[in-house]
Amino acid sequence: MQVPFGDLTRHYLGMKEEIDAAVSRVLASGWFVLGRELSTFEEAFAAHLGVRHAIGVGSGTEALHLALVACGVKPGDEVITVPNTAIPTLSAISFAGATPVLVDVDPLSFCINPDLIEEKISARTRAIIPVHLYGNCCRMDEVMAIAGRHHLAVIEDACQAHGAEYQGGKAGTFGAYGCFSFYPSKNLGAFGDGGMVVTDDDERARQIVLLRNYGQLERYYHEIKGFNSRLDEMQAAILSAQLPHLESWNRRRREIAALYSKAISHPAVILPRQQEESRHVFHLYVVRCQARNALRRHLADHGIGTQIHYPVPCHLQNAYRDLGVPAGSHPVAERCAAEVLSLPIYPELSDEEVLYVAETINHFEG
Ligand SMILES: Cc1ncc(COP(=O)(O)O)c(C=O)c1O
Repeated sequence: MQVPFGDLTRHYLGMKEEIDAAVSRVLASGWFVLGRELSTFEEAFAAHLGVRHAIGVGSGTEALHLALVACGVKPGDEVITVPNTAIPTLSAISFAGATPVLVDVDPLSFCINPDLIEEKISARTRAIIPVHLYGNCCRMDEVMAIAGRHHLAVIEDACQAHGAEYQGGKAGTFGAYGCFSFYPSKNLGAFGDGGMVVTDDDERARQIVLLRNYGQLERYYHEIKGFNSRLDEMQAAILSAQLPHLESWNRRRREIAALYSKAISHPAVILPRQQEESRHVFHLYVVRCQARNALRRHLADHGIGTQIHYPVPCHLQNAYRDLGVPAGSHPVAERCAAEVLSLPIYPELSDEEVLYVAETINHFEG
């Protein structure tokens, strides 16, 4: 049996009529940027999260970048985040001109360890970006309390956490801004790039609306220096067709995760743990194994695709050598990088495929 790590063709074919109708509608409309499709999707996404404002932007990276700029982060400032995230979390900080300051993660949740944040706060710290990694949630009550004590803005990186919850609140709704990616493989994915910034605050929303569109509300009248970062009509229409399915897709992801957790039994393989206070939406199902590379080869030999999220922590990437953060400084994140392996997880996977992956792991001689 072949079980690819992801299968977006299967995903498309599963809802071909709805997607084709959305695409045709946009093509026939003759209107492709900042139109009714976008405002309809923004309203639906805001309602889904229970927030006042959702502003569609070009990507998750740009969502984070615009949120940082809107929070007044500028060259010379420091922004706290984690070393085991997708590099764009750090790229956004760099493009705002600020310096990322890294805090190690909790070994169970793979998310920021709130106990280690305060020792990294300096006079130059302006914001914290907690990353809700793999579809799990950070301990947001603790992060918000620390930010409140030190007057820091919180910008949530919810790019992997559409519909995840912490203590009943949705990921992306705790901080000043929540940032989402609609990269095709996400729990809610476009057929191209896309992103969203959400906020409850009217003035904060206005800042993002300005920043995404050359700093203008009225055409050719520029209130601030802005960018071009807009979720286009085609992607908005495709996302509108998919949003009503997000909840059932997340339920299926959780079902698959439960099936893996029940069926995988191997002394060398550590399964992901769910925290009681959060609702994990399993963007990724990530196991740990000291013989990770051998396990990956074994699965590939049996037709099973896997990925590593992420093989090199951000502070050890060539691009961030200038931070001067040495190996050994973030032991939990560094150990994760050496041991993590992401198994196939997407709503279209059958139970039979999931059980085949689990059995293949159980037969690993490592
Ligand atoms: C945690 C995290 N942050 C940021 C991003 C950036 O999103 P995008 O690829 O839409 O720019 C991603 C997606 O790759 C992500 O997984």
